[in-house]
Amino acid sequence: MNPNFIKLSEIKKIYTMGETVFSALNGISLSIARGEFVAIMGASGSGKSTLMNIIGCLDNPTAGTYLLDGEDVAKNNDKELAQIRNKRIGFVFQSFNLLGKQSALDNVMLPLLYSGLLRKNRGKIASEALEMVGLSTKLRNKPSEMSGGERQRVAIARALVNNPEIICADEPTGNLDSQTSHEIMEILLGLNKKGRTIILVTHEADIAGYAQRIIRMRDGGIV
Ligand SMILES: Nc1ncnc2c1ncn2[C@@H]1O[C@H](COP(=O)(O)OP(=O)(O)OP(=O)(O)O)[C@@H](O)[C@H]1O
Ligand SMILES: [Mg+2]
Repeated sequence: MNPNFIKLSEIKKIYTMGETVFSALNGISLSIARGEFVAIMGASGSGKSTLMNIIGCLDNPTAGTYLLDGEDVAKNNDKELAQIRNKRIGFVFQSFNLLGKQSALDNVMLPLLYSGLLRKNRGKIASEALEMVGLSTKLRNKPSEMSGGERQRVAIARALVNNPEIICADEPTGNLDSQTSHEIMEILLGLNKKGRTIILVTHEADIAGYAQRIIRMRDGGIV
């Protein structure tokens, strides 16, 4: 197992808005092993999503280095970064971020659009992913025709469909009731047991309890 699969060194993120300069991350050094399940906790505004977005290659740090599987992420251009995100990382967000007018199946097929697979094969892989999260009877439902937990399971199926090594979940249970939250966490735990590296942001201690390690943030640093 590679203990430095994700390796951040002295990562800083500074937001500049006109005259105002705000340091959201002030020199984070952190390693996450391949196959590890970590939870990031901390008060609102402490920098959790900022850190998660950098780990997920959705955003660039202002300073510091990020090695993903030994490769310097900063060396990639925008197109290469988009490929890394598409192939290696799956995202799950609090607000699900599904396309409201499209069926569950179409939502899950979306990340496969650039895979070069035929539509028929994309459909097959997407239905298998939906089956894995227990939604084989809801393939044709639109998000508005599903419960919150079902929507989040569609989002998880979409995050999985490219078989990513890393799953970044930013408060995936933030909009769900307690029982549904635990169902979602069991799915993430199962994926971790199959070898996926999971990075979870949460405010809730019992949800963080699914992780092997808890990283606590305060004011842009790790405590
Ligand atoms: N695009 C931006 N421009 C300016 N400031 C930003 C931007 N994004 C985030 N920030 C600031 O950076 C800090 C960290 O934000 P971040 O979203 O990482 O917090 P968080 O820990 O995820 O909080 P929450 O628990 O509320 O989601 C906050 O003070 C926020 O206001
Ligand atoms: Mg956040």
